[in-house]
Amino acid sequence: MSNDSPNEMWGGRFAEGPDAVMRAINTSIGVDRRLAGHDIRGSRAHAAMLAARGIIPHSDARAIREGLLTVLSEIESGDFTFSEALEDIHMNVESRLKEIIGEPAGRLHTARSRNDQVATDFRMWVRDQLDALDGALKSLSLALISRAEAGADWVMPGFTHLQVAQPVTWGHHMLAYVEMFARDMGRFSDARRRMNECPLGAAALAGTSFPIDREMTARALGFDRPSANSIDAVSDRDFALEFLSAASICSVHLSRLAEELVIWSTAQFRFVEMSDRFSTGSSIMPQKKNPDAAELVRAKSGRVLGATVSLFTVMKGLPLTYSKDMQEDKQQVFDAADSLTLAIAAMEGIVRDMGVNAAELEAAAATGYSTATDLADWLVRERGLPFRDAHRVTGALVALAESKRCGLRDLSLGDMASVYADIDEGVFDVLEPRMSVASRTSLGGTAPARVREEIMRWKEVLG
Ligand code: ARG
Repeated sequence: MSNDSPNEMWGGRFAEGPDAVMRAINTSIGVDRRLAGHDIRGSRAHAAMLAARGIIPHSDARAIREGLLTVLSEIESGDFTFSEALEDIHMNVESRLKEIIGEPAGRLHTARSRNDQVATDFRMWVRDQLDALDGALKSLSLALISRAEAGADWVMPGFTHLQVAQPVTWGHHMLAYVEMFARDMGRFSDARRRMNECPLGAAALAGTSFPIDREMTARALGFDRPSANSIDAVSDRDFALEFLSAASICSVHLSRLAEELVIWSTAQFRFVEMSDRFSTGSSIMPQKKNPDAAELVRAKSGRVLGATVSLFTVMKGLPLTYSKDMQEDKQQVFDAADSLTLAIAAMEGIVRDMGVNAAELEAAAATGYSTATDLADWLVRERGLPFRDAHRVTGALVALAESKRCGLRDLSLGDMASVYADIDEGVFDVLEPRMSVASRTSLGGTAPARVREEIMRWKEVLG
């Protein structure tokens, strides 16, 4: 049942308005109203270009450009009434413009279609997000670097399989995440460079017979150039997919840091303590302090990845050029961008605020036979054993310590000699976690000296 007259923007050939269900499935204003500012910016540039090329009168362009500013201020102040019947942001804006300035509003849509319009608006929106995310990741990285600096030489267990592997420094572990987030920033800036071409002027799909100046609108809207192929310009959403892909990788990085902090804040680890500001309590267990912020950062990655899979699935197999399926792109990108932005901000707060228990880190670093590799290396360096033989001897020493329920450091020289005769006092030096990390000076290694160099480098890069 339709209860309206045909759409004023395209209803010329229609006798009836849409069914209520049609309206419900077709409308996107609830989502794409977020593009209002970008839509108005694009329309103002388009109107200026139409006048500059003599396609519409200057007086009309002036009225359009002024009127659009009025619409923008109404939207910004919350005075604007969005209408579902007008489907999307483009028609809502244009319809209101007509109410404000009358007949000249009808000239705005010359040499343009909603297809190139939405592609342009959405690119500008994603571009703004990329810029904001770059700043957010930079602040998070600076927070990690300052934590790394404070603990450049704190020893802690490094893990593989979440089993103690070898001692590492806290600073080195923090800087591992700085590397990841720097690559995320790199991916965002690569995506930005590739997507910064202006679709406006592609019109519906084939270009236009009007003598438009695409260079002019591209420049006015901050694009590097107009897109070269009108069919491609209105068809592809690879810029959105690329944004979502890079966002997914970044959110996976965040989720791993979040997960480590969740584990490290347990009573079993006690490596870190979350601040009150980023924790919650339990309504029944008075002692509880839960790392909810970190858990939610971990969960947001599922949401970002879900949005990514969703849009890939929408786009897969769509014939060129525009299909209405593509209207579903914005909800996914908006949700992913919001989730990622919040997750980065929360992670920055968690990292800045958390307490780090250096004594617990150090105590844990000595557990789990963490310096067994150092012992094997000592046998290679000092006794000339092939590494495989040294590995076997050390394995036997670990088994001996295990049977005595003690650490390698707690074995006597006599105990050790029963496994391998040619051992002396010197071996005890390498069994200390501090000595272990100090010795790992290879490029990219965990030695405090290396970590301090890296901190300097990052400060310069991000400064
Ligand atoms: N709201 C639409 C979208 O977001 C705008 C483009 C509509 N184009 C069309 N040919 N129906 O995709």
